[in-house]
Amino acid sequence: MIHFLALSGSLCKSSYNTAVLQAMATLAPDGIAIQIGSIAELPLFNPDLEDQPIPALELLRSQLQQADGLIIASPEYAHGVSGPLKNALDWLVSGTEFPYKPVMLVNTSPRASHALASLREIITTMSGQIVEPACITVPLLGSGLDAHGIVENQAIAEVLVDAVKTFGEVCRER
Ligand SMILES: Cc1cc2nc3c(=O)[nH]c(=O)nc-3n(C[C@H](O)[C@H](O)[C@H](O)COP(=O)(O)O)c2cc1C
Repeated sequence: MIHFLALSGSLCKSSYNTAVLQAMATLAPDGIAIQIGSIAELPLFNPDLEDQPIPALELLRSQLQQADGLIIASPEYAHGVSGPLKNALDWLVSGTEFPYKPVMLVNTSPRASHALASLREIITTMSGQIVEPACITVPLLGSGLDAHGIVENQAIAEVLVDAVKTFGEVCRER
């Protein structure tokens, strides 16, 4: 069994990025399980706090440690990566869990190229291994689809399943 941790860069209840990850968890083929993690409870990154117990960070680190791969879906805000996601990644910079972890990127808006490029740079700098054949852009912005609607949309669901399978195959071979 392959286990993936999925993180959404959006804290919004009606988030397309969270919805696509929920849909992927539902659609995951046999042999692959996707767990949606949370970055909402992390405090703002402060190196002075790194030696203190932070339950949300400990949970995230342990989920990431146990995961065979990390799936990230993040909105673009003002041409940048979302603040909550950058905050979570900053917390993970000094840990041992992130380096060499396979990473799949899901972009829910074809026009959001700046954040994606920036995310690639951040992940590469943190020694994450972006699995390019598994990275996808799905045009959800403005679609009005929630997780259920995405699962029911055959064309989008197929793209998601194929990408998750590809990510699973790459992670299995490692
Ligand atoms: C403050 C703010 C800034 C945004 N800046 C951009 C941007 O620079 N480029 C872009 O393509 N979309 C931008 N958007 C649109 C969001 O990326 C889009 O609404 C996205 O779906 C939000 O993610 P979510 O649905 O997962 O919450 C912005 C939205 C907000 C609220």
